[in-house]
Amino acid sequence: AEITVEGGQAKKISDHLFGVFFEDLNYAADGGLYAELVQNRDFEYAPEDKTGNDPDWNSRYAWELKSYKADAPAEPIVLEIDTAAPLHPNNPHYAVLHAQSTELDLINRGFDGIHIRKGEKYNLSFFSRIQGKGQGILQVQLRNRSGKPLAQAAVKVAPGEWTKQHLTLQAVEDADSASLSIQTVTPGIYALDMISLFPQKTFKNRPNGLRADLAQTIADLHPRFMRFPGGCLAHGDGVHNIYNWKETIGPLESRKPQRNLWGYHQTKGLGYYEFFQFCEDIQAEPVPVIAAGVCCQNSRGGGQQGVAMCDMDAFVQDILDLVEYANGDASSKWGRMRAEAGHPEPFHLKYIGIGNEDQITDAFEERFTMIYKALKAKHPEITVIGTAGPFNEGTDYEEGWKIVDRLQVPMVDEHYYQTPGWFLNNQHFYDSYDRQGAKVYLGEYAAHLPGRPNNLEVALAEAAYMTSLERNGDVVSMASYAPLLAKEGHTQWNPDLIYFNNGEVKPTVNYYVQQLFGQNAGDEYLPATVKLSSLSEDIGKRVPVSAVRDRETGDLILKLVNILPANTQAQVRLNGIEVGDTRAVKTVLSGTLENTDLKPRTFDCTVGREFTCELPAYSLTVIRIKIK
Ligand code: AHR
Repeated sequence: AEITVEGGQAKKISDHLFGVFFEDLNYAADGGLYAELVQNRDFEYAPEDKTGNDPDWNSRYAWELKSYKADAPAEPIVLEIDTAAPLHPNNPHYAVLHAQSTELDLINRGFDGIHIRKGEKYNLSFFSRIQGKGQGILQVQLRNRSGKPLAQAAVKVAPGEWTKQHLTLQAVEDADSASLSIQTVTPGIYALDMISLFPQKTFKNRPNGLRADLAQTIADLHPRFMRFPGGCLAHGDGVHNIYNWKETIGPLESRKPQRNLWGYHQTKGLGYYEFFQFCEDIQAEPVPVIAAGVCCQNSRGGGQQGVAMCDMDAFVQDILDLVEYANGDASSKWGRMRAEAGHPEPFHLKYIGIGNEDQITDAFEERFTMIYKALKAKHPEITVIGTAGPFNEGTDYEEGWKIVDRLQVPMVDEHYYQTPGWFLNNQHFYDSYDRQGAKVYLGEYAAHLPGRPNNLEVALAEAAYMTSLERNGDVVSMASYAPLLAKEGHTQWNPDLIYFNNGEVKPTVNYYVQQLFGQNAGDEYLPATVKLSSLSEDIGKRVPVSAVRDRETGDLILKLVNILPANTQAQVRLNGIEVGDTRAVKTVLSGTLENTDLKPRTFDCTVGREFTCELPAYSLTVIRIKIK
């Protein structure tokens, strides 16, 4: 293959093309990225929160009660779930241990057990009060599977008001599946709520923080933006289930837990403040997505199409308030709340997505138009991202675009989950897009094969397509693979980019493609052509390349994909480009199409104005070249 890069014809492309799409799906938040180790800490699990066939979702879920005086006179109730005088109306349920004549042991099994590392410290906190007179004493322990204590401490509980307790536990041994025990030492009626256990080491040591290994794996993609909190989760499966950002900020006990659309409980402990903080920590633009006043498919969960028109002013105000929360100074109402939460500086919000692959109905259009006009009038500095929905499914895609064009919405969110063949055949998808029209945010895409594996075949189809996104980086502003995270044993959707369990993070081969593009992004595109000895169009599609320049480092970066079953000799010619250093680094991801467990390897290589490079069969090669 002869590959020619034209140095004199650079065009500016988006400097935040590749990012991530976080959705609380597959236990991505609670039990996942959110580092909380106690499951159902708030006793708010409810029967409708069911995941799959789990029959038993209620306030006691993940909790077990043991009594250590079997011969004590039986008490009618030893564990009660009460709602009188709760910590906060948004968090009405709490546990009451009736331990007048029995020592009780309330045990939480975490999310598939609690993963404990020797020597690490864990922050335990809970609210407690003695109902009645006198003081109580509780002993807390982390225990391994056979019941051996790995850390313990005792704490006094006073009667009267709810009091927050804080304890530090240091583990003396590793345990992959530990439990947390809270045991009564003295008789009394103990009320307990918001029982929380965090590793002291979270990502960037943030309180109420994120699991360090998972967060770091996301950071290592070098994402230039992060979309959150969904996906379908953002617009919910019914108007009552629409994700409301205001219910996700402030003290944890005041946040409103909710069953999510994917069929499990979300504490909202990972809420908007934490999302913004994480974006800042990894230097990604925050891209919140808010429902367009309609729920998923505009009718799920009871048939109501959207937020009642009489409630739309308040709905719109909530979105305007979000901008104030993110960017307002501490003298504004919502800016003050951010400052009080610990972040006086603004979060520099620039984008808001309105809607998520909604059905384009009159109900949608009316509400979207209201929101868009209000945002544009009050916050012209914010780029609103409209929605065109999934490509190729009905007419919503075209109808969505018509609204975007009519209202001159500056950007539109497109989604597609297609076969690898579709991605190879559609590498010119954006070549003909109007450069004067709305920019594109390709908010969700992934190549799917039957059985939905993550393997090199789908990953290379995505890589091929990503070279076309770079070529079209003047019209495609952002793109994110979807979904991002999946907890093993708890997936509602496959494939995903990163799988994990309590102790391990397992990036997929698709992850490494995203990482190679994220870590080797540029802000200028240089036209690159490929001449092959074969004139077959099909073979041409299988050797796509792109060349970008990163103005910050001054590097030229070549991405060379080979989806042919044989090694290909590439003769690279850099026209009008002066190479600054003939030593370069080449990173290669290659294997067989079925391979699921591959990692990129790096090699030194020699480059020049003209050089040759072998592209292995089924590979993505990235070469970073210092230029003058
Ligand atoms: O990414 C998974 C789901 O796919 C998203 O929630 C939704 O927007 C799309 O249908």
